[in-house]
Amino acid sequence: MKHPRSVIIGLLLIVLFAAFTYFKLYPAKLSQDHTTGTNSSATNPASISVIVNKTHPLNPLTYTPAQLVVPNIPLRSNITDNEKQVSSVMAPALEAMVSAAKQQGVLINLRSGYRSYALQQKLYNYYVQTQGQAQADMYSAKPGYSEHQTGLAVDLGDVNVPSCNVQDCFADTAAGKWLDTNAYKYGFILRYPNGKQGATGYAYEPWHYRYVGTVLATKMYKQHIPTLEQAVVY
Ligand code: DAL
Ligand code: ZN
Repeated sequence: MKHPRSVIIGLLLIVLFAAFTYFKLYPAKLSQDHTTGTNSSATNPASISVIVNKTHPLNPLTYTPAQLVVPNIPLRSNITDNEKQVSSVMAPALEAMVSAAKQQGVLINLRSGYRSYALQQKLYNYYVQTQGQAQADMYSAKPGYSEHQTGLAVDLGDVNVPSCNVQDCFADTAAGKWLDTNAYKYGFILRYPNGKQGATGYAYEPWHYRYVGTVLATKMYKQHIPTLEQAVVY
């Protein structure tokens, strides 16, 4: 049976359209998976392995996490509504970690979790005004450049040693020591280790932990990889 040329062209167009639709849908499904925080993208702010530093801002700069929750752990007094929240991707791990520490007699609280672009701007400007630009840039990220804005970073404190909160001596508290030894088991890393300003861009912050998941945190711990910048291709 002989088909007219128009029928063959029509069938060809249908096949092409179906293929185009399929390939258009397939990457869409992949990017949907990114929002769960389970992929390894270094540039997606919803990914647990995202790199956010002085040369890699959030994209978009005013990014807001899809789901923020208040974790069921002790919160510092007067904590802001912003900072008492963390990404829902990280909250269960944070709760498990703080609960395990408590069972061993170490009381940890949350000092700062999620920070919006606007809050980070306020904090950064405050540090610049009170301490000068150079000091501010050693400890504080500009708005759009802080991993606190992903909801995947936390500043933690020792409930019993408030004088060392957000100070170098936090490293010597029971909470600081416990976290340094155990955080990786729950998927957290010390994000700004001592003497690694060249890699991270920031001075030592023994209180700042970043959730990267247990696979990457364990790998970094076991292989002695000190910074996320050295652990992730970006
Ligand atoms: N203290 C860290 C660098 C921040 O502001 O995100
Ligand atoms: Zn921090």
